[in-house]
Amino acid sequence: MKTPNARRQDSDPGFTGNGDSNQLNPIFARPGEATDFPLNELPRGESAPETAYQVVHDEAMLDGNSRLNLATFVGTWMDPLAGKLYSETVDKNMVDKDEYPQTAAIETRCWKMIASLWNAPDPDGAIGTSTIGSSEACMLGGLALKRRWQTARRAAGVSTEKPNLILSSAVQVCWEKFCNYWDVEARYVPISDDHKVLDGHDLDKYVDENTIGVVAIMGVTYTGMYEPVAEIAKALDRIQADTGLDIPIHVDGASGGMIAPFLQPDLEWDFRLERVASISTSAHKYGLVYPGLGWVVWRTVADLPADLVFDVTYLGGHMPSFALNFSRPGAQVLLQYYLFLRLGWDGYYKVQKASQDVAVYLAGEIGKMSAFDLWNDGTDIPVFAWQLAAGYTDKWNLYHLSERLRLKGWLIPAYPMPDDLTDLVVQRIVVRNGLSRNLAESLIGDIADAVAYLDALESPMPTEGLVTSFTH
Ligand SMILES: Cc1ncc(COP(=O)(O)O)c(C=O)c1O
Repeated sequence: MKTPNARRQDSDPGFTGNGDSNQLNPIFARPGEATDFPLNELPRGESAPETAYQVVHDEAMLDGNSRLNLATFVGTWMDPLAGKLYSETVDKNMVDKDEYPQTAAIETRCWKMIASLWNAPDPDGAIGTSTIGSSEACMLGGLALKRRWQTARRAAGVSTEKPNLILSSAVQVCWEKFCNYWDVEARYVPISDDHKVLDGHDLDKYVDENTIGVVAIMGVTYTGMYEPVAEIAKALDRIQADTGLDIPIHVDGASGGMIAPFLQPDLEWDFRLERVASISTSAHKYGLVYPGLGWVVWRTVADLPADLVFDVTYLGGHMPSFALNFSRPGAQVLLQYYLFLRLGWDGYYKVQKASQDVAVYLAGEIGKMSAFDLWNDGTDIPVFAWQLAAGYTDKWNLYHLSERLRLKGWLIPAYPMPDDLTDLVVQRIVVRNGLSRNLAESLIGDIADAVAYLDALESPMPTEGLVTSFTH
């Protein structure tokens, strides 16, 4: 009889076979594989590298399939040469600018390219940095807003006790963290059916002399919709005309920062708007790099208070550094540069357009199903959400649909919308490079099958304990 190991490939590290597929691979009979490794304690002794590898490899295998993970915005596919470059450069520490001057120079080239993509009036007069992701990039953007406000208030001899930041209620959790960690009052403008995103309405009710800035999101995490940054800027212009308060905008372009320059080049959301002081993005989302990289750019050096910037020695000279972490991987920066060279503007356009086409196709097909109403259609970033059509069924809900789809391997979360809309549950698909039209057609078939199964139930699905485990 064939053992399970007989199906393993020669390419599997730890495979000691000689081509005889009936040979028992002894790895699974070794201590560690055949006995327990302690889970929460350091093992007493050593183990063979192949055994340790196999244990970790097998546990990682139990995770969801990243290509079918339509919940995440984060890149799950890069080409083989990127993989090669990654493994060649995985040992570089980004902070060691002196030891790895070329990686440091490439980092600067990358943020300057991004500053141009975001229409900085003078990319050489802008300032930027790589980060570990959008969360760190947003923290740095927020810190710069806070310090600028403090400096101006101190100079005017007035209180700096109570800074506040204006945000949509649908902001990503990194902004809640920012406000919590740095003692800034978060003033949330609730989204609603009439105002599906922060659009500048009623802004004067939230803004005062303690407002350090307004966050505009290009690609709201819950739905993928763009916030109209130009409208928000206009509302702030009106407020300035009325009150004299000059309030800057930070654009959280976690996803849209690498979509809008290619798919909506005429949309004014970036440094073309005077009020936009800084913009951040996740390189590991639509920048198409593996996890661990973000970017933040300030319009001019003056927009980043100098007292936040530290000096790092660099080739015997000095290099400005503004970051929360000290050590952090440098390889992703090189991957970003590789992609910039490899794809150029045209290549990025093609990749993003292909994702958008798939998102629009999926949204169109889901919108045609009588069970669902679309919240949006995937034409901003390639992300869209839908809700159960009112009165369609009381036998099942979107959490049940999410569970059924998981049986087929698809990870498509359902979750409640933020404050003021928490009764509304939506389901969302994030289309990324790698979700082909072919896979998308299979997904539509699986959604139709799941709906047919749920509709055919004679009694309602149980709802006890049914809550979202999904976090934004
Ligand atoms: C709008 C927005 N901002 C910030 C973040 C945080 O990004 P990161 O995961 O790169 O830290 C996300 C993540 O989804 C996001 O959608």
